[in-house]
Amino acid sequence: MDDSIAGIARARIDTVKARESARFSAAHPQSRALAAEAERHFPDGVPLHWMTDWGTPFPLFVAEARGARLTDVDGHSYRDFCLGDTGAMFGHSPDPILRVLADQGGHGLTYMLPTADVPVIGRLLAERFGLPQWQVAATATDANRFALRWARAITGRPRVLVFNGCYHGTVDETFVRLADGRPVHRPGLLGQAVDLTANTAVVEFNDLPALEAALAARDIACVITEPALTNIGMVLPEPGFLDGVQRACRATGTLLLIDETHTISTGPGGWTRAADLEPDFLVVGKAIAGGVPCAVWGFTEAVAAAMKHARAAAGPGHSGMGTTLSANAMALRALRANLERVMTSAAYDHMLAMSARLADGIRTVIAARGLPWHVSSVGARAEFVCAPVPPRNGTEAAAAMHGDLEAAIHLFLMNRGFLIAPFHNMTLTCPATTADDVERLVACVGAACDDLLAGA
Ligand SMILES: Cc1ncc(COP(=O)(O)O)c(C=O)c1O
Repeated sequence: MDDSIAGIARARIDTVKARESARFSAAHPQSRALAAEAERHFPDGVPLHWMTDWGTPFPLFVAEARGARLTDVDGHSYRDFCLGDTGAMFGHSPDPILRVLADQGGHGLTYMLPTADVPVIGRLLAERFGLPQWQVAATATDANRFALRWARAITGRPRVLVFNGCYHGTVDETFVRLADGRPVHRPGLLGQAVDLTANTAVVEFNDLPALEAALAARDIACVITEPALTNIGMVLPEPGFLDGVQRACRATGTLLLIDETHTISTGPGGWTRAADLEPDFLVVGKAIAGGVPCAVWGFTEAVAAAMKHARAAAGPGHSGMGTTLSANAMALRALRANLERVMTSAAYDHMLAMSARLADGIRTVIAARGLPWHVSSVGARAEFVCAPVPPRNGTEAAAAMHGDLEAAIHLFLMNRGFLIAPFHNMTLTCPATTADDVERLVACVGAACDDLLAGA
């Protein structure tokens, strides 16, 4: 029996992981103490259970972060390529965001009323993304949920369609995947009271015939997708696939929602602008206001008109959409500053150049060691995947994920001053990332590989 995972001996992965875990414990006494204290009132010592997903023996507690650097409470400094899993994609506390937060802080944070920033933001979003109408939500999860609800209201169709392996936030309708070709609830889902497979269709990414067949009955309100799947490793669209999705939607009166929350790493207008896509809805969250909780969702004039009609037809009452703090004054200030002064073409030029350098460097590391791994990129987002060829769909991507191997690599990197995303091997570069940061990370990935291969 071949007792290896993606070219690395299973026993060696366990050894490296245990050694790095012990090293982390010894080097982080303050984090350990804070976790123990917090555990009295927070399960596992964290205010959000995802914060325990880093593979560390206890959570890493942060003291501060700026630009591409993060410092923990034990005084260790990290070159940060995780960047809050995209929330800080433009660096921690960019100067323009810092300034507006300090300024707005003395003028009230939330009014449930618009401010003078609103017309400017509308113009900036329309110019950048090409959609004329917009709404603001507090998170990308909310934006996706609201847009899907509108899509059902407009079309009068009950169902939505997702691609296998997708993630669009904690949106109930999207927690469906394929198992042996059949839709099932995603494993691990808690407290799910209704059968999601009744109203959610799921097909493989890059499978246009399957999509066309699923849309043929014309009972799907909306297809929601990222332009490339980025939450199950990385699955890039094959040439013509996204155009085909768009065509199939149009042919069947199905609305198309493109979720650019991660793929905004592509460039200033996301993948949508770069590829001239024309979705009915577009969502961007996480980094859109420089790390302040905020998301935006845009739509066409036709959708806006249909929304008006649906609202009038529904009569008075609660729409089932919106949250009190959505579009608060602080978020609007940060959103405007980010669009005007942070998400610039110059910033992207630098981020993309750094990411390309990082991807090339890791490709060289992989090739030099003959590892059956590869690297995929979406602009400022690069990912090394411990499988020989890029996956075509969610099923192949899931098979290329190796939790223990990834955890061993993450711990090795963290103990040497580098953070990459805790989920798979995702890296992001921000405007403050330097060539030196990149060279050092590449060298450290090389050292991790050598360590994992030792004795092979
Ligand atoms: C593509 C995509 N959409 C939406 C979301 C949800 O973002 P949030 O957790 O900020 O609501 C995520 C989160 O990872 C995401 O990757």
